[in-house]
Amino acid sequence: MQGDRQGAQLIDGKAMAARVRGDVMSAVRRLKTEYDVTPGLAVVLVGENPASQVYVRNKGKQTLEAGMTSFEHRLDAGVSEAELLSLIDTLNRDPAVHGILVQLPLPDHITESAVIAAIAPEKDVDGFHVINAGRLATGAPAVVPCTPLGSMMMIAEALPHLAGDYSGLTAVVIGRSNIVGKPMAQLLLSANATVTVAHSRTKNLPAVARTADILVAAVGRPNMVGGDWVKPGAVLIDVGINRVDAPERGDGKTRLVGDIDFEAAREVAGAITPVPGGVGPMTIACLLVNCLRLACAAHDIQPSRIGAP
Ligand code: GUN
Repeated sequence: MQGDRQGAQLIDGKAMAARVRGDVMSAVRRLKTEYDVTPGLAVVLVGENPASQVYVRNKGKQTLEAGMTSFEHRLDAGVSEAELLSLIDTLNRDPAVHGILVQLPLPDHITESAVIAAIAPEKDVDGFHVINAGRLATGAPAVVPCTPLGSMMMIAEALPHLAGDYSGLTAVVIGRSNIVGKPMAQLLLSANATVTVAHSRTKNLPAVARTADILVAAVGRPNMVGGDWVKPGAVLIDVGINRVDAPERGDGKTRLVGDIDFEAAREVAGAITPVPGGVGPMTIACLLVNCLRLACAAHDIQPSRIGAP
């Protein structure tokens, strides 16, 4: 600890997500009473990946709590790609379904890109369809993937005086996935940050990371970002959720850690998201936001008319 340094501001994803869910709930109520529309989210789970089962259960629970309709489809791991595509076709045509989410990863015999391409772009609640990715990249109105959307809200929370304009700031995104890294970079670029996307082949990653006023880590490597990777005062967004052994908690126990070494980084950073309780809860809250917006769009309703976030 350096002298009287207080350490970084904690960006509390749990509290922020509760606020977002509250706003969604109020907007859903108004959508129902004023327009007789109830947003519907269909979630498709293939197989029995334990982490996916937990995510899908949480998504279903929070969808219902927000006053939306939840349609859950659990398919056997051996389901054919044709059967899955046929289910998506049915959901595309169902007017009660406004958002469709196929939980990833999918079993190896199913082609992820074909499944994502089959979802109608106007029901693509994850924002993974190439139409939405292309719209985001070209500055057109798009469905924005939930984790980057939530991460942007958390950056805004840490830098309220900038009102979402990061002109002159350097942002480094570590990770280049279609789900997080690439859309995150697009959003930061749209917000006028100077953006670098770093990844496993980047040379001298710590030095690149140290240039960042805003650093987003989305690689899935526990505690990879050390305190010496962090520019003093930087805003750190930790997208990683990694389960590691925790013998200090007892035999066979585990705990969740992020991609950032939290204890080391908080000594240097200006603001940091914790794991758990950071980006994770915001991701699901943003899924509800996206579903609400899609329901509004399907009925030609301006989200602002019902106070939607
Ligand atoms: N698997 C891990 N994260 C996600 C996500 O955001 N959406 C979907 N569909 N699957 C995931």
